[in-house]
Amino acid sequence: MQIAVPDGALVVLVGVAGSGKTTFAARHFGPDEILSSDAFRGRIGSGESDQTVSRAAFAVLHRELAKRLGSGRTTVVDATNVTPWARQGLLRRAVAAGRPAIAIVLDLPEAICLGRNAQRAADRAVADVPHAAIRRQSADLGRSLRDPGRLVGEGFSEVVRLGTPDAVDAVEILRIPDGRIGTAGLGRAASPGSAGRDRGLLPLTERSNREEPDRTMTPRRPRSG
Ligand code: UTP
Ligand code: MG
Repeated sequence: MQIAVPDGALVVLVGVAGSGKTTFAARHFGPDEILSSDAFRGRIGSGESDQTVSRAAFAVLHRELAKRLGSGRTTVVDATNVTPWARQGLLRRAVAAGRPAIAIVLDLPEAICLGRNAQRAADRAVADVPHAAIRRQSADLGRSLRDPGRLVGEGFSEVVRLGTPDAVDAVEILRIPDGRIGTAGLGRAASPGSAGRDRGLLPLTERSNREEPDRTMTPRRPRSG
């Protein structure tokens, strides 16, 4: 699947621990385009899994995001983003900068994510993310996806949901130079998806639409968020 990403857009990765967000970001984007909550935890705290500095890490991430979008730099946010609250904070930055926001949801079976987490912990001698935390994230994600159209309702101009490792592997990111399509604002008319589809580039996106009370911003697990 091709995903059109206009220059200057916000790309929000959404997925539980072990769904492959960091791997996906590294495969498709430059290191200078990615803002990772884990990386900010590592800089501010004792390491990438230091949950005690989550609040400060996200504050810095948001500040950096605002600056980047304001100066027209494509930015990928690598954090779980499974709650409406977490996504809304990011979307506000995109709206303020007049940039489209694209959600790429790594909606893989929980068993795969649990397996990858365990493998990663073993390979890198890092703490395993507690299963309970992954299950909570899965539940949050499930609520976010239950209602098709919900994420579009939140303000994403494009929502791509990838449900299998094969679907994730098949992704190709299509960069759209600024100016080729309208990127001045959010919404369907200016969305990369509608432009992509007009040119036959985007086979599918899933859309959703449902409101839910905000929840806590700080992820409740030892790694990432
Ligand atoms: P990631 O470390 O990319 O997951 O992959 P993530 O979503 O960013 O996880 P958090 O939220 O930071 O905790 C997790 C493990 O799965 C492997 C990676 O090598 C890593 O060890 N992986 C990822 C695969 O084996 N295949 C993939 O396609 C993606
Ligand atoms: Mg990660």
